[in-house]
Amino acid sequence: MQTEDIKKDFSLLSNSNIVYLDSAATTQKPESVVNAIKEFYEKYNANPHRGAYSLSIDATKIYEDTRKKIAKFIGARDEQTIIFSKNATESLNLIAYSYGLENLNKDDEIVLSIMEHHSNLVPWQKVSKITGAKLNYMYIDENYEIPQEEIEKKITSKTKIVSLCSISNVTGTINDIEKIIKFAHKKGAIVIIDASQSIPHYKLDVQKLDADFVVFSGHKMLAPLGIGVLYGKKEILNKMSPFIMGGDMIEYVHEQETTFAPLPNKFEAGTQNVEGVVGLGAAIDYIESIGYDTINLIEKEIVKYAIDKLSSLDFINLYVTRNRDNHSSVISFNIKGVHPHDVASILDSYNICIRSGNHCAQPLMRYLGIDSTCRVSFYIYNTKEDVDRLIDALNKAYDMFKKYIKD
Ligand code: ALA
Repeated sequence: MQTEDIKKDFSLLSNSNIVYLDSAATTQKPESVVNAIKEFYEKYNANPHRGAYSLSIDATKIYEDTRKKIAKFIGARDEQTIIFSKNATESLNLIAYSYGLENLNKDDEIVLSIMEHHSNLVPWQKVSKITGAKLNYMYIDENYEIPQEEIEKKITSKTKIVSLCSISNVTGTINDIEKIIKFAHKKGAIVIIDASQSIPHYKLDVQKLDADFVVFSGHKMLAPLGIGVLYGKKEILNKMSPFIMGGDMIEYVHEQETTFAPLPNKFEAGTQNVEGVVGLGAAIDYIESIGYDTINLIEKEIVKYAIDKLSSLDFINLYVTRNRDNHSSVISFNIKGVHPHDVASILDSYNICIRSGNHCAQPLMRYLGIDSTCRVSFYIYNTKEDVDRLIDALNKAYDMFKKYIKD
């Protein structure tokens, strides 16, 4: 399948001259996702779980069928282990508050990687401050990978929680999460995987992985903004207290006491983002219609092309792993001596969208000894022509700035 054909499914891209290179922040949405949401509002809109009338029953069916679809998509045995949230951030906060605060004490340790997004870091600082548990980090080597010695040094019998990303949103490093999960389990820790940057690109099988929790955001995998997923092992989720209290998560409410609904409702208080759920279902259909094998083939070719082109520019510093097989579709770089925000503004004047800044990963930036980077991230709708336009615009940006660059 040609990427030009895929691009036609994305109105924003096919109707404009935009080169969109920020899919790690959020992907563009195919027409099938937009149409599914429109159809929901035109034919089925009602509040799920709330009405005894047919329209609400239809809305409930659509909502719950999508939960089943997600369970199948990620290899979960039981759809009750799929909880809808706002995004990966909310899913991680749910785990931190409902599992972390209730299960950790001052003699315990939490292990993260230094590559974590703030969403998988700040909630653990809070848990650490309240419980007294120590927060440790696995650091990366000069190849932007976590070395084996670091895993063995940081994850010990004191570790109760290991939480890390499957792919870094800054360096694009693909972490060997299967190996880390096995090792952490041997030490008696539970493992949380932030799969936000991997699920658009690689098949996720939660049973094979054996992670205790997996979180991701829909909007990075073609679905609308504002819908996320938390998967957890049933025996763990069953023991956890609810995170947000309100309607539909209860069994009986008395003046002073409440008993809670079983899974998954106990974690879904209040009216949910049903259009987000509908859009996520359509996004899964779209991904499955292309297939992860094709997605990988397209991306590997474009990322190789982009890294080769960027490496040939002598005014660029690249922050990518040398191991191409261990690299996803995110590429961070800087024009030596030029602030990334300035580069991004110049590229914007050529209709090229990239992200610049610290990418919600300030501890990683500090560790790398930089403030910020430019970041391009690719998805199935990108073409080699997009890369050529990027390279051309970077050359123009450099020409514009070079007289001001100090050696
Ligand atoms: N987490 C998103 C990113 O890396 C927003 O851009």
